[in-house]
Amino acid sequence: MKEIKRYTVTAALPYVNGPKHIGHLAGAYLPADIYARYLRLQKRDVVFICGSDELGTAITMQALKEKVTPRELVDKYHVLSKECFSKLGISFDIYYRTTEKLHFETAQNFFLDFYKKGLFEERISEQYYDEETKNFLADRYIQGTCPNCSSERAFGDQCESCGKSLDPTDLINPISVVTGNKPVFRETKNWYFKLGDYENWLKEWLVDGKKGQWKANTYGQAKSWIDAGLQARSMTRDGDWGVPVPLDNAKGKILYVWFDAPIGYISATKQWALDNKKNWEPYWKSQDTKLVHFVGKDNIVFHCIIFPIMLKASGDYILPEDVPANEFLNLEGQKMSTSRRWSLEMFEYLEALPDKVDELRYALISNLPENKDADFSWKDYQLKVNSELVAIIGNLVNRIFVLTHKFYDGKVPQASDCSELKEFILERKDKVASAIENYSFREALVEVFLLARHGNKILTEKEPWKVVKNDPKEAGIVLYDCFQIIANFAILIEPFLPKTARILWDKLNMTGEMSWERIGETNLVPAGQEVQESFYLFSKMEDEVIQKQIDYLYQKTHKDMPEEAQVEVKENLISFDDFSKMEIKIGTILAAERVEGTDKLMKLSVDLGSEVRTIVSGIAHVFSVDEVVNKRVQVLANLAPRKIKGIESKGMILFADHGEGLAFVSPVGDVPNGAGVK
Ligand code: MF3
Ligand code: ZN
Repeated sequence: MKEIKRYTVTAALPYVNGPKHIGHLAGAYLPADIYARYLRLQKRDVVFICGSDELGTAITMQALKEKVTPRELVDKYHVLSKECFSKLGISFDIYYRTTEKLHFETAQNFFLDFYKKGLFEERISEQYYDEETKNFLADRYIQGTCPNCSSERAFGDQCESCGKSLDPTDLINPISVVTGNKPVFRETKNWYFKLGDYENWLKEWLVDGKKGQWKANTYGQAKSWIDAGLQARSMTRDGDWGVPVPLDNAKGKILYVWFDAPIGYISATKQWALDNKKNWEPYWKSQDTKLVHFVGKDNIVFHCIIFPIMLKASGDYILPEDVPANEFLNLEGQKMSTSRRWSLEMFEYLEALPDKVDELRYALISNLPENKDADFSWKDYQLKVNSELVAIIGNLVNRIFVLTHKFYDGKVPQASDCSELKEFILERKDKVASAIENYSFREALVEVFLLARHGNKILTEKEPWKVVKNDPKEAGIVLYDCFQIIANFAILIEPFLPKTARILWDKLNMTGEMSWERIGETNLVPAGQEVQESFYLFSKMEDEVIQKQIDYLYQKTHKDMPEEAQVEVKENLISFDDFSKMEIKIGTILAAERVEGTDKLMKLSVDLGSEVRTIVSGIAHVFSVDEVVNKRVQVLANLAPRKIKGIESKGMILFADHGEGLAFVSPVGDVPNGAGVK
């Protein structure tokens, strides 16, 4: 293992095409913040980079919709995002913008370097064009009827009703999302990066090199892209809101936003270095730097494949050590979406509950979508605040401070030797560290709270408020222990709940800085030290407050929204009749083949006893053909047939989703094909 001298930690640069919601926070920014804060507590050399992704079609199209200029749009949302992140305690060392001149230069230099190295191929192709706005239309900005399920609101890249991935030319009656016009075809020239040249290298570096090391979701998605073969990809676009392509024959062409945006991490580091009189280069070029990209799952391919290829191609840059990608966070059981107004935006939370920042951080961290999608619900949030923050740590702290003022004049009583306690704390310290280094932040938080739970346990067992009457010395020892627990807790919790940590530190009248090194000291708060008045660290979330938030959400999604765009409120319970409608049967997979041109699809022949069915299943990124043939399965047999990639699929195979992938749900014992499951 090489020694790590410094850390470059990045969090995906959010688009400034609108406000960012708590799903974004849970996807990348909170985990990255915990990681960066943890490293700082350890006094490591770390730079934590983020900023606004301000260029490209996502921005220009939204500006058209809002009837403002792209510049006005990005200025507005840049300020909003930056402010929200800062209020939520996300401790970026710099919050940059990709509209900065330094970024343009940096991105152009990358492009020119690749151009000179012959990594691009010029190609002419036909693209959809809107004659009114004089724009080529990005896939997302074309809507039409889905050829698969006939939904009239399918996008050029995907139908959100049936989930099928599409090409804009697949759509029936395509229209421009912005103007409603029917787009026309136009020829255009672009520069394609020959990603295929890096396929072998990627197999070695990623497929072989990161196996078992990266999270299963990240690795699996990246691998399936590589397995499917890497096509050349256009790194330029037509337009004016972007970094101009730095070539003489490229008038009206800009860099593809996914080309320039990740370079934004580097430009941002340069700016940070200028501002802080540092040298940026070691953070990107030195082998003893650990580079980690925090992203949401929709960003995986760019950070695991395309950007690493760019770094590799440039010659002297380091590669990401890890890309801990999170899945999505749903809201009250439904997919979060700003445009459908089913979302909890960061600014909305901060407006409604401005002094409840750590409460939100806690609720999100304890429920991060680390391995599979997670759900945020207000009721669950309330439960977490009341029965964990208030009941566990808030209560402990309050009791200790009250007793100290009541019986010991507000001074930390008599020291004890604490040897058992010390061991317990050191064990937590190790566990928290290894969980954080594994990007298992939920688990790390549980470990920190074990310390507070331990404090409550000591109190309940030893009952110092009773003992104090006969044996103040003995009771004092209990309190002393609890003070050490609280002070150690304060440091351990800092990466997760920084405000709480600060409050505890101040109320204990601690001197010196919090540092990781000090965790495990059992004389952190010395006997005799005066502490501040007793206080409540957290207060109970009342039903009315929670109900108000829930009402707001429903009213927001329904207000002025066309009915078909409203989020349907899902009822979790079904009747027995609903269940009986399902015909689930046992079967055996006889044959399997991957569906050409897709990453995930496999075509299966399944023996259901009386017949053999063709079923298309999205499992090719998890299983190989050999792994599925001869497997016994459960099949939802009366699912309406659907055409997927031209193949008629009749039925659906059921799998257990355990977060790290899928598992077969096979019958136990001798069950014939065709047997019904009830
Ligand atoms: N703007 C992208 C998004 O919001 C993320 C860009 S990450 C970067 O999905 F690496 F390109 F910066
Ligand atoms: Zn569809």
